[in-house]
Amino acid sequence: MKQFTVRPAPEVSGRIRVPGDKSVSHRAIMLGAIAEGRTEVEGFLAGEDCLATLAAVQAMGVRVERRAVSSVAIEGVGLRGLAEPAKALDMGNSGTAMRLLAGILCGQSFDSVLVGDDSLSRRPMERVAAPLREMGARIASSDGRPPLRIHGGSKLRGISYQMPVASAQVKSAILLAGLYAEGETSVVEPAVTRDHTERMLEAFAQPVKRSGSRVALISVGRLAACQVNVPGDLSSAAFMMLAAALAASGELVIENVGLNPTRTGVLEIFRLMGMDFDVAPAQFDATEPVGTITVRPSRLQGASIPPRLVPLAIDEFPAVFIAAAFAEGVTVISGAAELRHKESDRIKVMAEGLRALGVTVDEAADGAQISGGRLGAGTVDSRGDHRVAMAFAAGAVRAEGPVRVLDTANVATSFPAFEALARSVGMNVDEADAGVR
Ligand code: S3P
Repeated sequence: MKQFTVRPAPEVSGRIRVPGDKSVSHRAIMLGAIAEGRTEVEGFLAGEDCLATLAAVQAMGVRVERRAVSSVAIEGVGLRGLAEPAKALDMGNSGTAMRLLAGILCGQSFDSVLVGDDSLSRRPMERVAAPLREMGARIASSDGRPPLRIHGGSKLRGISYQMPVASAQVKSAILLAGLYAEGETSVVEPAVTRDHTERMLEAFAQPVKRSGSRVALISVGRLAACQVNVPGDLSSAAFMMLAAALAASGELVIENVGLNPTRTGVLEIFRLMGMDFDVAPAQFDATEPVGTITVRPSRLQGASIPPRLVPLAIDEFPAVFIAAAFAEGVTVISGAAELRHKESDRIKVMAEGLRALGVTVDEAADGAQISGGRLGAGTVDSRGDHRVAMAFAAGAVRAEGPVRVLDTANVATSFPAFEALARSVGMNVDEADAGVR
């Protein structure tokens, strides 16, 4: 089993780029596959999650050319050109891959099965299956969880769906099924969630109507291939920001980071906690805004995180828990029950890990109260959750001694070469294979 040993580091500095955005990379592959023409994807995240999506479309007859690690060309087969896969499609650790593909597969003429690893096999799937059934799809989960068995040949109709949880994955699955539906498909969100699907559909010449919390489309019957420039993933950048803020000296510049306003909740939270950083917007790519973030050593303070920021920072809470551990005073996280349904139960796993390093954490059903001040040395179990592992690695920059982080192989799902990049800016991360646990 892989593990990190991370020793404190006095300085974090340099000028870096982080790997491509995971959400945008998944969508580029999926839309490229069902578009007409050749879609060129630059800045593609060659992490295991997006590679699972890539393998899935290839298993359905889509030709893909990898010209470089992060440069992919996809020969689209059109909305109805996918071929029946010979076996179950394995989505690995990726909830996004499974939920979004489910939306597309409901519109196909053939049957398909979506499976995942142990973590994904525990995650809730009725949140997508139920609305897709309302659209006329035939889709079965296994007691609400994967595998998902999808029967092809259904005639889909548009629905107007009031989404009970704020989930971009659910919203996206419904919109993608809407490409195959008769009439208008619309989703009303209880809170703003990431809008990469809407932006990318528009880039592929499928109009999307947005008004307030409602998003709607009427399928124009085809997607037109285009060029997708994937920005650096702000969710990955957040760990590097945290490390630079915790270091005693240095300055870290992170270029070409995605700054989509439906993703920048973490910047507001870090700002509230007193992190010292600047954001310089760069050119506005037609689809996704990007910019440069410069971070300096910071004195963090505790804060009550406004619940409205939760969906806008949903993947960054492991980093927020660590920031809270170092902050002066108490940090209160609430309205964040969704964190229990991620790659791990992130409230429980972060609370356990922080306690193992001497931090006082009171867990609540929908969040936690963290009393900050210091992070001790010791061993934490990431429970196979990539973001938990990277958050503790960042925290170790200012811990009182070495921090061992167990079960880190899944870091490769979203941040390939994390260890090398972290070392290049001064973090003392060593990855080792500790054998089978
Ligand atoms: C994602 C949406 C989020 C996020 C996930 C990626 C996406 O999940 O946690 O990592 O690409 O749509 P929910 O929308 O289900 O909260």
